[in-house]
Amino acid sequence: MSKLKSLTVPEFVGRKGGEPIVVITAADYTMARLMDGTGAVDCLLVGDSLGTVVQGRPTTLAVTLDQMIYHTEMVVRGTQQALVVADMPFGSYQESIEQAIRNAARMMQATGCTAVKLEGGRHFASTVKALVDCGIPVMGHVGLMPQSVHTMGGYRVQRNEQKILDDALSIAGAGAFGVVLECLPTELGQRVTEAIQVPTIGIGAGVHCDGQVLVGHDLLGLFDGHRPKFVRPYANLKDVVQESIKRYSADVRARAFPSSEESFR
Ligand code: KIV
Repeated sequence: MSKLKSLTVPEFVGRKGGEPIVVITAADYTMARLMDGTGAVDCLLVGDSLGTVVQGRPTTLAVTLDQMIYHTEMVVRGTQQALVVADMPFGSYQESIEQAIRNAARMMQATGCTAVKLEGGRHFASTVKALVDCGIPVMGHVGLMPQSVHTMGGYRVQRNEQKILDDALSIAGAGAFGVVLECLPTELGQRVTEAIQVPTIGIGAGVHCDGQVLVGHDLLGLFDGHRPKFVRPYANLKDVVQESIKRYSADVRARAFPSSEESFR
């Protein structure tokens, strides 16, 4: 049997407790191609955080299923090796199990992604199970759930140990192949990681998770909005972009661009 070209869901699960899993968000072809081309990324997540870092909105709530399909399709086209997971946006799966199956199947058919991610704790366990039973791999997301920002009263560290453990155990028990843990104290990230059978992917959940995820725009220092405490910018592309624009602008104004080599005879 031929091997799928990218990391598979069972391979992802097999990384539990082993070498940490590297996850980054991407929203377009060029970024996906650059990130995946390093060979250093296990999983590209098309996160609905693109609502803030790409669309400039205050929250992720307005991101639509059509927009997620548009971005995911570009990321899939730019990816050879990483497992591509697409976020199901707010309102696309909460209504009923039927709605979740219909929209997750549409996401997979329209984009070629390998899996979907959805936010939600134990109340979504039956949704996760139904999707998995239909052959749709699901990554869970518990702790701080940005789609519930108004219910949670803001983007805060989540400290209700029992609730978060129950949420993660229910979602993993329902068949999720991994669970994102967002904004938890380090010890709680460790407890959940030890409690569930599938990899945990932390964002602001400490070093003991089975893997880590960062929003690509934050990691590269491209986004100059609010920077959460858990972000480590590995580059300052914001300055590189602005410096390049200023140099181009100066060259145009000085008629130093284009040169004869950059012109046609
Ligand atoms: O939307 C997103 O980018 C996410 C990650 C931050 C986990 O859900």
